[in-house]
Amino acid sequence: MKNKSLVSINDYSKEEQLRILDIAQEFEKKPVQTILQDYVIASLFFEPSTRTRLSFESAVNRLGGKVVGFSEASNTSVKKGESLRDTILTVANYSDLIVMRNPVEGSARFASEISPVPVINAGDGANQHPTQTLLDLYSIRKTQGTLDNLHIAMVGDLKYGRTIHSLVIALCNYNTTFHLVSPVELKLPSSVKMHIKERKLTYHQYTEMDEVLPHADILYMTRIQRERFSDPLEYERIKNVYNLHKDMIADTKENFRVLHPLPRVNEIAINVDKSPKAYYFEQALNGVFVRQALMASILGIK
Ligand code: CP
Repeated sequence: MKNKSLVSINDYSKEEQLRILDIAQEFEKKPVQTILQDYVIASLFFEPSTRTRLSFESAVNRLGGKVVGFSEASNTSVKKGESLRDTILTVANYSDLIVMRNPVEGSARFASEISPVPVINAGDGANQHPTQTLLDLYSIRKTQGTLDNLHIAMVGDLKYGRTIHSLVIALCNYNTTFHLVSPVELKLPSSVKMHIKERKLTYHQYTEMDEVLPHADILYMTRIQRERFSDPLEYERIKNVYNLHKDMIADTKENFRVLHPLPRVNEIAINVDKSPKAYYFEQALNGVFVRQALMASILGIK
């Protein structure tokens, strides 16, 4: 994986993805090392982030590396009209690896094609979020003991949810049964469903969440994303359509876990947090180890 950009989850084979998860297990045991002490990582966030940006930066800091970059483009020469091309070519002079989040779908692919250093896509609009998928796979494997033959329920914004798109594609490698719960307006796009169909896997679509809960091994909740709606009234109409609360998960399977890429708004009540079946904050922690593994692999250290 040395020098190999990660833009779409499909850029890495199943074997390469599993290798990252295995290396992440090593980092979980020993997250503080000095292996990145000679490296500079650029962190370019053109769109808001808490977990992705800070877990990447935490991952670098704990491995002795340095981070340069920005958390909003308004403080950079983008404000003066500089193109993404010129920004990437410039930042590549200052760093060994670029991590970029950008609201424009396809921007990460473009950056990877022109950049002399590898690029990691930290989310490009509603398209893909492959590093989230790696940490989701890590979290699923850690909680279930396997990735194979699971019933995965995905709830919320399946249309614009980039974490959903990347995760569905990755889970097609593991004989997953998909339970897709969304408002009619936010169903999984056909382009993503095509991956499920190509593998001849089973998927079911629902508008209500209750009936999937007894069958699910994983409940992957997502936020209805205000920023993806062009019509604010449509967002207001469906923003609170799902609300998971403690009583709803009382009769779920023993191995059942609730995941969420976060941030949440109202879709998971606070009273779920104390349940041993709530796993979303541990999931966010796993992002540090997985991102350490990914960067160490791309830089040729692991
Ligand atoms: N999961 C995720 O991408 O969170 P942030 O938007 O806070 O980075």
